Amino acid sequence: MGSDALAARLKRVESRNVTFLGRRTPFWTDALGVRVRDDAGNRYLDLTGAFGVAFAGHRHPRIMNRIAKQAGRLVHGMGDVHPPAVKVAFLEALAERMPWSATRIVLGLTGSDAVEAALKTAQLATGRIGIVAFEGSYHGLALGALATTHREHFRRPFVDRLADHVRFLPFPSTADEAERALERLAVALAGVHPVGAVIVEPVQGRAGVRAPPPGFLRSVAERTRAAGALLIADEVFTGMGRTGDLLASSRETVPDLVCLGKALGGGLPLSACCGPAEVMDAWPPSSGEAIHTSTFLGHPLACAAGIGFLEVLEDEGLATRAARLGRTAAGCLKEALAGCGAVREVRGRGLMLGVELHGPAGVAALVAERALERGLIVLPAGEDGRVVELTPPATIATEELEEGVEALAGAVRSVE
Ligand SMILES: Cc1ncc(COP(=O)(O)O)c(C=O)c1O
Repeated sequence: MGSDALAARLKRVESRNVTFLGRRTPFWTDALGVRVRDDAGNRYLDLTGAFGVAFAGHRHPRIMNRIAKQAGRLVHGMGDVHPPAVKVAFLEALAERMPWSATRIVLGLTGSDAVEAALKTAQLATGRIGIVAFEGSYHGLALGALATTHREHFRRPFVDRLADHVRFLPFPSTADEAERALERLAVALAGVHPVGAVIVEPVQGRAGVRAPPPGFLRSVAERTRAAGALLIADEVFTGMGRTGDLLASSRETVPDLVCLGKALGGGLPLSACCGPAEVMDAWPPSSGEAIHTSTFLGHPLACAAGIGFLEVLEDEGLATRAARLGRTAAGCLKEALAGCGAVREVRGRGLMLGVELHGPAGVAALVAERALERGLIVLPAGEDGRVVELTPPATIATEELEEGVEALAGAVRSVE
């Protein structure tokens, strides 16, 4: 299993911090639906959707068809100068699905890009640079986004370069914690450094699939607006159906800005900062030299794939499937792991699930390794690596889910 030869070659050419070459590193060569194959011919069931990207499954035929057609005509345009026509069609399709009557969008390639655009938008719209973020949050690693990402591991080497106008508040799991967090929010909003934006993940992903108690997001939104600041919902992970709703925030509020990424491009790099015209028009009209753009903005292949993804999302009812399969998966996980001393909690929303374990920090990585031996791909998450994160494609069949749960239960029991 794995390929020592590829690992050795990679080591010679890639910066050593990038790819973790563990005892067993599969180098992927093929993927279709929920199945992945590596260079040694091993087959895996992918319960991660490759960081949550393959929400419609790997290489969905309709999305591939869109990409192939686009590739036959135009693979690169001049995003903000001579825009590819397909960019317009994608923006229209996305805007139509957003909760505002007149939506404006800034496209990017990564989730970090979407967060950078949202933070800049909030500053332009409010004239304030203060930001409130939450402990445990992950908003990406570009310097602007990193300033709002909480985990020390990512921040420490660069901390002197990070904006120091970001306040972190506790992210609550219980109603009591929510009350205390809201009190702290009120203090932060009334503080001497005027806050322009509160940025929040409706369900924290990399912190270990942590949902706040019901009503928290609504209260955050109310307090944020009352203070003249904007609520940014970072839905890079939760968005586009993963939690059972198109936007996870929609259960409680309509945010002022929404960040999307991961699933949005159907497998190609595509992200978006979306908001209503009255907020987004804080950006001045372009004078011919946009103040926020990039070479690959509105990439034709990604936009074509994005259109394909939106079609599949609707035609195959992926959000509804995520809600239903999420309930099935949580039920199966609870049953399969019942009486397992290593398990603290099974939780999640839709197809964003976490199994929190007892045991030493990093235990989830060990489980992921054991799962791999059983042909299953899962990821470790959580501040101290005690959560196994599951974000499978919504196209997964119930039997495939059951197969994955069985393999995972075996992996968890092996570390008891
Ligand atoms: C909520 C959230 N925001 C932003 C990001 C950053 O996205 P990217 O890695 O594409 O820059 C991530 C990535 O995991 C994320 O989960």
